[in-house]
Amino acid sequence: MSDGQFRIAVLASGTGSNLQALLDTLHGGPEGIVVAAVASDKPGARALERAEQAAVPTASFPLGDYSDRAARDAAIAAWIAGYDVQLVVLAGYMALLTPAFLQRFEQRVINVHPALLPAFPGLDAVGQALAHGVKVFGVTVHFVDDGVDTGPIILQRALELPHARTREDVFARLRGVEHELLPEAVRLFARGAVRLDPADPRRVLLEP
Ligand code: GRF
Repeated sequence: MSDGQFRIAVLASGTGSNLQALLDTLHGGPEGIVVAAVASDKPGARALERAEQAAVPTASFPLGDYSDRAARDAAIAAWIAGYDVQLVVLAGYMALLTPAFLQRFEQRVINVHPALLPAFPGLDAVGQALAHGVKVFGVTVHFVDDGVDTGPIILQRALELPHARTREDVFARLRGVEHELLPEAVRLFARGAVRLDPADPRRVLLEP
């Protein structure tokens, strides 16, 4: 920790409502959590504007500026490392991170996903769930590993929506859950309350 701070980087590609939740509920608050840097693969992402409004440093790393994904991810890693961050939070980051990036921030990259994993990984999780006709939706915060939404699960919350028909119906309720669960996960990290079970590295142990 630097000066008692718990510093996080956020990667986001889209509107950044989860980033906003982190800014509104944690950033600069009594728990010492600081959103130290926000990066995107999309130069025009609304998430970057939200960060700028909060006076958080931003940068964008469009793939076209680099020879390949590995070079792009190396640039992101070098940039966020310069902000001395202890945790990397993917909040609607739509590119897959390369193994070298994940090794550099081993067990320090987490993601929020709008489904109860392992159901409906990947893109359009809510659309997949609707197509399946589920009655219970939900949100997962998990460690990021080399797979697509396959890392160990940190927090999950279910939401019964038996009458939902459209993505809008679901997101109208799911967003609020995401905006609580992701900050809660970051809070747990800041308290040092998250670790992998040495007896079973699929299991995440949370200190009470
Ligand atoms: C969220 O639904 C999150 O679960 C998914 O991408 C979406 C990002 O939304 N990974 P926003 O950009 O934070 O509003």
